[in-house]
Amino acid sequence: MLLINSKLKLLLLSLFSFSRFSSSLYYCLFSQQFSREHQSVLKARVAYLKYKGRDNDSSVLLRRNIHRIEKGLIMQPQKPIFALSYITETINEYVKLRKNTTHDKEELIWAKEVLSVYFDTIDENLLPQKIKIIFEKFIDKTAEKNNFKNVPYSFANKVISDVTFEQFFSLCNQRRSVRWFTAKAVSRTLLEKAINIASTAPSACNRQPFMFNVVDQQPLLATLASLPLGTKGFAHNIQCLIVVTGNLSYYPTERDRHLIYIDSSLASMQFMLALETLGLSSCALNWPDIEQQELKIAQILNLSDIIRPTMLIAVGHAKTQGKIPYSQKKSAQQLINYMNHENCNFSK
Ligand SMILES: Cc1cc2nc3c(=O)[nH]c(=O)nc-3n(C[C@H](O)[C@H](O)[C@H](O)COP(=O)(O)O)c2cc1C
Repeated sequence: MLLINSKLKLLLLSLFSFSRFSSSLYYCLFSQQFSREHQSVLKARVAYLKYKGRDNDSSVLLRRNIHRIEKGLIMQPQKPIFALSYITETINEYVKLRKNTTHDKEELIWAKEVLSVYFDTIDENLLPQKIKIIFEKFIDKTAEKNNFKNVPYSFANKVISDVTFEQFFSLCNQRRSVRWFTAKAVSRTLLEKAINIASTAPSACNRQPFMFNVVDQQPLLATLASLPLGTKGFAHNIQCLIVVTGNLSYYPTERDRHLIYIDSSLASMQFMLALETLGLSSCALNWPDIEQQELKIAQILNLSDIIRPTMLIAVGHAKTQGKIPYSQKKSAQQLINYMNHENCNFSK
């Protein structure tokens, strides 16, 4: 019976996967697995159009555009003019936000300094009069640019760490998924230090669409720790749980819907390595897209449809007698695929 079922399933799935249309039909008729994601992505697009990705004390529009301007400022050779299609909206956004006393000061300083350098760098004669007027009104041209700390700088001035390959390799080997923790509470000061390190991770257009939601209070912790399917047997001893979430409304279009997962994963990896240097251990926990679980976590943590948990991370002080799976790793040889003219569809 099982065999017939799986053969029938294979046949059906093969038929429906034949074309994009038949695949969409399958997901319309037989499976609602993507329906919540569809709605969330659409709601996120509406939210972007309404709020331009303004999120508490930060603005996606400003962050993305200032980042684009910084990229223009590092071009070789330097173009005499660039960013014309978005410079007006950037200045308007900056001017609006600087009136907001709760907006992040550092973000505004970064924007102000980059805009000021932009104005100094481009050929003013190529700037439409309308934009020049706005610039002159809002950007201080006389500011002492040498003191700017939030603008593009040469590679030669980059701070180089003294961490060697061996030391880094050793830290990476030190991090293992730990599932057995002592009852010692996790210091929020240490968590904040590790999250500061997470914040240095790369993110698409420097948007940083994630949040580290810290759960360390009972009975909330016990309830949340038992939600992921992968904590069976050790949920009760988790002392602190981080629910990493991504905000889909940071993006105007569907094409970027995966960035919340990519960006939050890169940040989470740095977070977990940082924890090791602070004497803490962690275990990443899978958060699969299961309707019931999504509804539960959204209800408990007050997450709107456009915020999605991307990963959960258990954090704590490891029990020294607790065991850790060996977890054999693949070798570089297994993971590398060198692309060349023979194994690519590429004509010179
Ligand atoms: C995205 C992701 C989801 C994971 N989910 C779980 C989980 O639900 N439960 C669990 O015990 N471990 C989970 N892990 C930990 C993996 O089992 C572990 O990383 C892997 O076996 C390699 O071991 P190591 O982390 O010690 O190197 C997860 C890891 C990742 C990256």
